Amino acid sequence: MGHQMFDYDAQLTDAVFAYCRERLSMDPVPLDYGSQREIPIDKLAGLIRPEGRNPQEILDFFETTLAPAVVSIDSPAFLAFIPNAPTKNSLLFDMVVACSGLNGTSWLESSGVVVAENQALTYLADTAGLPAGSGGAFVSGGSIGNLSSLTVGRDVGRAKHPELNPHDVRFAISSDAHSSIGTALHVLDVDTLIVETDDHRFTLKALEAALANDPHPENVIGIVATAGTTNAGIVDDLEGLGSYAREHDLWFHIDGAYGGAAIFSATHKHLFKGIRHADSFIVDPHKWLFAPLDCCALIYRNPTVARKVLAQQASYLDVLHDSSDDEYEWNPSDFGIHLSRRARGLPFWFSLVTNGAAAYESGVQVAIDLAQRTQQLIEESDHLEMVRPSSLSIVLFRRRGWKAEKYNEWSQELLRRQIAFITPTKWEGETVGRIAFLHPNTTEEMVVEILNSMRG
Ligand SMILES: Cc1ncc(COP(=O)(O)O)c(C=O)c1O
Repeated sequence: MGHQMFDYDAQLTDAVFAYCRERLSMDPVPLDYGSQREIPIDKLAGLIRPEGRNPQEILDFFETTLAPAVVSIDSPAFLAFIPNAPTKNSLLFDMVVACSGLNGTSWLESSGVVVAENQALTYLADTAGLPAGSGGAFVSGGSIGNLSSLTVGRDVGRAKHPELNPHDVRFAISSDAHSSIGTALHVLDVDTLIVETDDHRFTLKALEAALANDPHPENVIGIVATAGTTNAGIVDDLEGLGSYAREHDLWFHIDGAYGGAAIFSATHKHLFKGIRHADSFIVDPHKWLFAPLDCCALIYRNPTVARKVLAQQASYLDVLHDSSDDEYEWNPSDFGIHLSRRARGLPFWFSLVTNGAAAYESGVQVAIDLAQRTQQLIEESDHLEMVRPSSLSIVLFRRRGWKAEKYNEWSQELLRRQIAFITPTKWEGETVGRIAFLHPNTTEEMVVEILNSMRG
């Protein structure tokens, strides 16, 4: 007889599996309401007490009361922020990862997981044009991917430039870099050269102008480019910035958390050729590569350098590192700011292997094509206009005559009516409409309904 918490409960197992089966079979899942649904706090109060409660009752409470207060990020009508559209295969395999307690920390404990995750990372690295030998780990998200990469870049830059005060080294970034880049550099206490850009695209020309006007260009030890800005989907001049970084021996980091997935797009992969110059590159399968949260692929051109900076050292961990020069003894824990980790790359691996890479290519392309079609619909309408041409899968547009308050009311009304979840953004100080396509099952009919809802 073991502890009662670990008894197998066949009835509860059936109930939870039935719930999961129902969610998986919904086509589409209901959008649901997020914070528009009031949560009866009094029903939560006192739930945790010395003696346990009936699991079926709590599962029902979750299903009927808590779950509807979350907007389903896997709904094809979720078009705000950056959505997440996990394939059925990836969701199912996430259950396998959870139920098997699969730990993905070290080679010693988890070689079977590591080889599969690394196969997926290598596939991404090859598709992105990074050289053989590139590698890294799956981390929790773009924010930690950026922080880990920039930590390595900072240390490498400092080591190359002993003549510089270590506190003076800087990264060149554009004002459109994702907020997590600012946070990472804040954590690292590294300053920036903020490069002003034409039309929000970070180009070599803009970098050279910024360096020419800067009193201390010698302090810039790295460049951060974005492969698909979050607000507008713009891909920076990766080739120009990357060649400059190579020529001047600077760390070149590419944040492709959202847009990096378009390396799978037949029409847009040419924009990403410059990834071949990157020292570090991230792309989030939990964004546009159809994996569940939370999963960022973090890839270094030279993983050995990253390992030297990031591997945690402790006497109880020495056993993990005894022979880690052997390329097969790969500890995912050595490549990010983390130690213990679930095998979060496996759901992506399983989906990529079972659906095939061609399905990823067409899945990514659908969103780009729909963004372009939406642009046409907007241009043909009399009440809307584009703010700028669609980029990747993002459309920025304006409802003539509307101010911030109207956009917010419209956004809430769309959710209330369960038509879509779309939140406005700001573009050069003006509140505008923004649609981020991602789910391959979002249809033109849905777009037409959304655009028509802005007539009134
Ligand atoms: C370009 C870019 N970088 C980084 C991030 C942060 O990623 P995460 O939310 O996974 O931490 C995002 C999130 O939208 C992003 O779009």
